[in-house]
Amino acid sequence: MNDFELTRTLDEHAAERALREDVLHGLTRFPKVLPPKWFYDARGSELFEEITRLPEYYPTRAEREILLERAQEIAAVTGARTLVELGSGSSEKTRHLIEALPALEAYVPVDVSESALTGAAHALLAEHPRLRVHALLADFTKPLLLPDTPAPRLVVFLGGTIGNLLPPERAVFLKAVRAMLSPGDALLMGTDLVKEGSVLVAAYDDAQGVTAEFNRNVLAVIDRELDADFRPADFDHVAVWNREEEWIEMRLRARSELAVKIRALDLVVPFEAGEEILTEVSAKFRRQGVQEELAAAGLELAQWWTDAAGRFALSLSVAGGSGREAPAEASGRVSGAA
Ligand code: SAH
Ligand code: TRP
Repeated sequence: MNDFELTRTLDEHAAERALREDVLHGLTRFPKVLPPKWFYDARGSELFEEITRLPEYYPTRAEREILLERAQEIAAVTGARTLVELGSGSSEKTRHLIEALPALEAYVPVDVSESALTGAAHALLAEHPRLRVHALLADFTKPLLLPDTPAPRLVVFLGGTIGNLLPPERAVFLKAVRAMLSPGDALLMGTDLVKEGSVLVAAYDDAQGVTAEFNRNVLAVIDRELDADFRPADFDHVAVWNREEEWIEMRLRARSELAVKIRALDLVVPFEAGEEILTEVSAKFRRQGVQEELAAAGLELAQWWTDAAGRFALSLSVAGGSGREAPAEASGRVSGAA
């Protein structure tokens, strides 16, 4: 018997208001910025799936390799009956985990992309008819109320998406995740690792131009939702390895001087030729840094696994004690700077 439920914590009005605020705030400051969650409309989610299959984009393959190798161990250590996934997307890699968790009863994918959530749920339920899938259409950087499902819970955050948050946002986010965990619950997190700049840049600037199209998709979203007249082709995709910060910066660079109308905001945004919008960072990590960031949130690193080539890591932390040693700020909810 199939059991699928979708809870929308973002109604369309709230989502549009958030987009207006982000665009108004991000495009009237210098340098211009846009938050990455707006990439992911139906087209954006589709383009991201295409990215995961590109020869240059190794993180998905590396993370799948680790998951396949460690799934039994993760199952044994966590005994999870509920699997919560933040930024679940297509849930493609997660199926390896779902197949390996013998006690699993409920899967709670959380994403801002409704098309990704429904697509993933249908595919999963076809294979696991007894699984309860309770999808949450929600922003994981905002307070998050999880459905009442059986313990222990395993929370997973894959794809290196943690690296798309800035360090202070990560600190708030990880504390909020810690606060969601009861004793015996666990967090499994994927992080891409620092490596040679040329390999990283290629992963975010592929030869076929899929990543470029994905990056420009945020402009198409603003055009549609806020009645703007960006022409995505007026912008070049730029991926830069920032050696000091150890993150990739994704930018959109105006090919000429422009004045872009955003009618829903009654705003004209001027661009100088060559001016850039920062659309995303993708931080790369080292073991020590991950361990410290987890510890600062009250989480102790229990396992650190990498793929054979050492490109990507999965870390597992199991919540101990009362669950109250994490510095407060959030209680049972995910919150974050946004
Ligand atoms: N976990 C998948 C997808 C990673 S891409 C994988 O590893 O391949 C990042 C995913 O997070 C996308 O599906 C996107 O829609 C979602 N996402 C991005 N920002 C989000 C936010 N603030 N709240 C919820 N979901 C978000
Ligand atoms: N979480 C993914 C990452 O940082 C998201 C991503 C991959 C991405 N390629 C991208 C975001 C290109 C923007 C542009 O690897």
